Amino acid sequence: MQWAVATYDTAFGYVSAHGAPLLDLLDPQPDERIIDLGCGTGTMTVEIAARGAEVLGIDESVEMVNAARSEHPHLSFAVGDAHDFTISERYDAVFSNSALHWMSRAPSAVISSVHAALRPGGRFVAEMGGAGNCAELIAAVQTAWRVFGLPEPELPWYFPTPAEYAARLEEGGFVIRLMEYSDRPTRLAECPDGAADWVRLFAPELIAEVPPELAGPLLDRVNELAAPALRRESGWMADYVRLRFAAVRKPGGDELVQPPAPQAPPAPQPPPAPQPPPAPHGHPATQAPSAPHLSVSPEG
Ligand SMILES: C[S@@+](CC[C@H](N)C(=O)[O-])C[C@H]1O[C@@H](n2cnc3c(N)ncnc32)[C@H](O)[C@@H]1O
Repeated sequence: MQWAVATYDTAFGYVSAHGAPLLDLLDPQPDERIIDLGCGTGTMTVEIAARGAEVLGIDESVEMVNAARSEHPHLSFAVGDAHDFTISERYDAVFSNSALHWMSRAPSAVISSVHAALRPGGRFVAEMGGAGNCAELIAAVQTAWRVFGLPEPELPWYFPTPAEYAARLEEGGFVIRLMEYSDRPTRLAECPDGAADWVRLFAPELIAEVPPELAGPLLDRVNELAAPALRRESGWMADYVRLRFAAVRKPGGDELVQPPAPQAPPAPQPPPAPQPPPAPHGHPATQAPSAPHLSVSPEG
C-alpha cells in the first residue's frame, strides 16, 4: 500500500482525532514502555509519549516512518511488519489505532507478534475497522467495477466480527477485558469529491490496476452509486464501523510464539561465538530515533 503521506495528516487527521478515547482506554503510565503498532506519521505516538510513557512507533511504510521521524525527532520509530516483528525486550502495552485492518495477510500472526512483544499481564489496546465497515463505499466500488466489466477488485482490508477477533485473541493467549462494536458515521470533511476521494486515498492500488482512461469515469460512477447512502447536504459521510478492544496477555504462553525445537540427537557443538552487549534502552528523549532492539528492514 502506497500512502499519500503528504496529505495524510491534514486530509485524514480524523483517523487520529477519533483516537483520543482509545488513548484513555490505554491509560499510559509514566515510565511504561509502549509500542504504537501501525503508527503512521506518529500522531498517536506523540500523545502516548506526552503521558510520560516511553514509546516506540512501528510501521511497515518507510515513507510514514520517515515523516514520523521528521515530525517527532525526539521519539523512536522503526520500520517493521506487524506480522513478524520481533523485539528483544518485553513491553507493557501494545497500542494500535486504525491500523490492524490493514494487516490483513495473516491476522493471527499479528496477534502472535504482539503477544511475544508483551510481558505477561501486558495490555493490547486497539481500534480497527469491524465487520461491515465501509459497506456502502465498498458496495459502490464493487458495483462500479462490475458495470465497467472489470474483474472483482481485491480489497486490502480485514474487517472481523467481534466474535471472530475475540476468538483469535483468546487462541493467541489473551484475556479480553473489553470488546466494543459500533457504528461510527464519519464526516469525510476534506473529501470534496466524496467517495471517489476516499478510494483515491485509501485504496489507490485499486485504481492503479485500472486502465488510466477508465479511472475518472469509474470513480464518477462510484460517487453516483454511493451518494444516496452517504451524501448529506452538509457533505459526505463514511459508513465506518469500529471494533475497539482491550486485552491482556495471559501469564506464560510463550510456547504460543516459540514452539519447542524438534528433538534431535545431541551433536558436538563448537564453542559459542562472543555475543555483543545488549542494546541500550534509554528514555525516549535520549534514544536514537531508530530502535536498535527491533528486528526491522534495512531502512528502519
Ligand atoms: C490509517 S493508518 C493509521 C496510522 C496511525 N495509527 C494513526 O492513528 O494516525 C494505518 C497505518 O498502518 C500501517 N500498516 C499497514 N500494514 C502494516 C503492517 N503489516 N505492519 C505495520 N504497519 C502497517 C500503514 O503503513 C499506516 O501507516
